Amino acid sequence: MSALAVETGSINLGQGFPDTDGPAEIAQAAADAVLAGRGNQYPPGPGIPELRQAISAHQKRFYDLDTDPETEVLVTAGATEAIAAAMLALLEPGDEVIALEPYYDSYAACIAMAGAARVPVTLRPPEFRPDLDALRDAVSSRTRLILLNSPHNPTGMVLTADELRAIANLAIERDLLVVTDEVYEHIVFDGEHIPIATLPGMRGRTVTIGSAGKTFSFTGWKVGWVTGSPELVAAVRTAKQFLTYVSSGPFQYAIAVGLALPDSFYASLADGLRRRRDLLAAGLREAGLDVFSPQGTYFITTDIAPLGESEGLTFCRTLPLRCGIVAVPNVVFYDNRQAGQSQVRFAFCKRDDVLAEAAARLRGLRSATR
Ligand SMILES: Cc1ncc(COP(=O)(O)O)c(C=O)c1O
Repeated sequence: MSALAVETGSINLGQGFPDTDGPAEIAQAAADAVLAGRGNQYPPGPGIPELRQAISAHQKRFYDLDTDPETEVLVTAGATEAIAAAMLALLEPGDEVIALEPYYDSYAACIAMAGAARVPVTLRPPEFRPDLDALRDAVSSRTRLILLNSPHNPTGMVLTADELRAIANLAIERDLLVVTDEVYEHIVFDGEHIPIATLPGMRGRTVTIGSAGKTFSFTGWKVGWVTGSPELVAAVRTAKQFLTYVSSGPFQYAIAVGLALPDSFYASLADGLRRRRDLLAAGLREAGLDVFSPQGTYFITTDIAPLGESEGLTFCRTLPLRCGIVAVPNVVFYDNRQAGQSQVRFAFCKRDDVLAEAAARLRGLRSATR
C-alpha cells in the first residue's frame, strides 16, 4: 500500500508511521552517541544498561511495576522482534495461541513460524469489545498462551480493568502464559492503559512488549523491549540471540534519554493525536463512512457499507485513483474474513495539513466514478 501511495502520489494513511520526527533532544542524543562512539559496535546482548534501567524506571513511574533491569528487561529490534522471539521461545509445535482478531499481521506469521496454531476470538463493531465467554470457550488442552494487544491495532479498542481481570483469571485458572503487545501504551484517549502484568498473579506469567517507535515517533530506529520474570525474559533472550543478536546500538542511548522525558511529553503525545483523530474522523464521516472512533492507537477503523460497498480490499485498491488516498483493508488482519470484509483502516499520525487535505479529498469520494 505504501508503494501504491508513492506510485499514485496519494496521501498515505495506510502504514502507521508518523510524518513528523520525534523530539529533537532524542535525535540529538542519537547523533551524539554515534559521534562519541557509543553503541557503534555490538551492544550487550540484553541491551545497554542505560536503556534497561530507563525501561525499568518507566515501568515503575507509569505502572508501579518493579522490574529488575539485570534480569527482567530485554531490548529488542522493535516490538516486531520481541513478538517473534516470544513466540519462538514460548511455543512448541502443536500448541495453540488465542489472539483477539483482527490482529497485527506479524502475529499470524510468528505463530506459524513456531509451528503453533492460532485460535482467533473475533472483536466485533461498533465497540470491538472482547467476548469473554468466547475467549473462555477458545481455551483447549493445547492452549499455551493468550496473545493480547491493547491499545489494539487496528480497532483502537483499549481493554478495561474488568476485561483484563477476566482474562487474567482465565490465564491463572488454565495455567496459560500471556504475551501482551502494548506498543501504543501512551496513545490512549478514552479510558486508561493498564498492563495486565500489574494484576494479581500475572507478573510471573506475562511477557510485556513495548516499543520506542510509537511513543517517540522514530519507527525506523527499531528499538523495542520485553519485560517479565527472569525465566520468561531469559527464554525470549535465547530466541532473540539467534534472530538479530543485537541492534540499534546508538539509538538505544537516545531512547534511554526519551524514556526519561517529563510527563508533559507523554500527555502532549496523546493530546495531539486526539485532536488529529477527531480531524480525520470528521472527514471520514463527511465522506459517508461509518467511523468507529478509537479509544487508543493512531488508527481509525471504518465501515464502507454506507457507501454501498462491501469489499474493503477492492475499495482500498481503487481509493488512490478515486481520490488520492491510501488506506488498508482490515480483512488482511482477520482469519474470519467475513467479519472484516467491509472494514477499512486509516492512520492519523500525520500533520494537521495532511489530514485536512485528506479530508477534502475524501469529500469527493461519493461523487467520484468507480
Ligand atoms: C500492534 C503492533 N505491534 C507491533 C508493532 C511493531 O512495532 P515495531 O515497529 O517496534 O517493531 C506495530 C507496528 O505497527 C503494531 O501496530
